[in-house]
Amino acid sequence: MFKILLFLLIHLFLFNSNNFLILALTSPQDISALKAFKASIKPSSIPTWSCLASWDFTADPCAFPRRTHFICGITCSSDSTRVTQLTLDPVGYSGQLTPLVSQLTNLTILDLSDNYFFGLIPSSISSLFNLQTLTLRSNSLSGSVPNSITNLKSLESLDLSHNFLSGYLPKSLNSMFNLRRIDLSYNKLTGSLPKLPPNLLELAMKNNSLSGSLPKSSFDGLIQLEVVELSENSFTGSLESWFLLLPALQQVDLANNRLTSVEISKPVNGNSDLVAVDLGFNKIGGNAPVNFADYPLLSSLSLRYNRLRGAIPLEYSQKKSLRRLFLDGNFLIGKPPSGFFGGEGPVTGSLGDNCLQGCPGSSQLCTPSQKPNSICKQAYGGKGKPRS
Ligand SMILES: *[C@@H]1O[C@H](CO)[C@@H](O)[C@H](O)[C@H]1NC(C)=O
Ligand SMILES: *[C@@H]1O[C@H](CO)[C@@H](O)[C@H](O)[C@H]1NC(C)=O
Repeated sequence: MFKILLFLLIHLFLFNSNNFLILALTSPQDISALKAFKASIKPSSIPTWSCLASWDFTADPCAFPRRTHFICGITCSSDSTRVTQLTLDPVGYSGQLTPLVSQLTNLTILDLSDNYFFGLIPSSISSLFNLQTLTLRSNSLSGSVPNSITNLKSLESLDLSHNFLSGYLPKSLNSMFNLRRIDLSYNKLTGSLPKLPPNLLELAMKNNSLSGSLPKSSFDGLIQLEVVELSENSFTGSLESWFLLLPALQQVDLANNRLTSVEISKPVNGNSDLVAVDLGFNKIGGNAPVNFADYPLLSSLSLRYNRLRGAIPLEYSQKKSLRRLFLDGNFLIGKPPSGFFGGEGPVTGSLGDNCLQGCPGSSQLCTPSQKPNSICKQAYGGKGKPRS
């Protein structure tokens, strides 16, 4: 009896009828998950030449060779037992993301970007404890980012950008120790920034409705953070001095928010990797911060369309690394430093739409033209333009 069973097993698992070596078979839990996954996609959105059209369950999904069925869309473990990647082609598949996707527990990559998946991100997705990359970018997903997503402790990259996600960010985001990159840009997220994952390199949450201040507690200990893209939100208050001192920071985009002030300290020991800062289209008052000039690699600075007053710091014009400078749309006064207009100054950008005097019209930097006198007088309390 046992011998017969063994023979049957060997026959089933090692050889098909042509004595063709098949190392093993896809686990039933993965097959049923793939079936459910395909079944939740509208057949009319599956082009005949697409990956999903080739998913034919009369054959084993992980079996080789895949000439006619499961031609693309999945990758399996080397022993052909488990699905390790589900990466669809961007052909416009439309459907819901089935909660049964959570059965694919050996997935390391789930990438459904540039399709028309709609509905909720199932909270069961938290069962994918091997998942390293989750990319659902450019779909039509709605509802909130499930709190359970923070259980994905292996996750290194999370991209849910360009969807219709709303509600608050998960509170325990900072428990995702392996997360290096998070992009939730172009959604409808609200509320304030929670504490962020400690090993983050890139933070992108552009074009949402996030509000509140930029709290130090959210960024505490983020010593690897290189890129911050939080433009087009509703952040208020001050950009405090600790922010640009985050030790690995290279690029900061906080344009189009409601920040009212900036505190810029000189970098610690003169060391900083900061290359680009965009604070345009906020409500920042006060003087243009002179300490920007002490960031050794800073090559692009925008403070355009704020409420800056006073003179342009001479140090900006002496800063060798600076290539792009946008100070247009403020209430800056005085004569712009002549260093900008010498033969050496390769700076591009704009000093236009201010209250400057003697900005040489021959220079590209001086377009558009300055504000009318009346507006400048009004801005300075009707006392005319004070000396800089
Ligand atoms: C599936 O994942 C588990 C847990 O990480 C691992 O031990 C196992 O080897 C994986 N299976 C395959 C076939 O890769
Ligand atoms: C977000 O982007 C859309 C389209 O690109 C734009 O119309 C909208 O004003 C942006 N939202 C914010 C808050 O800037």
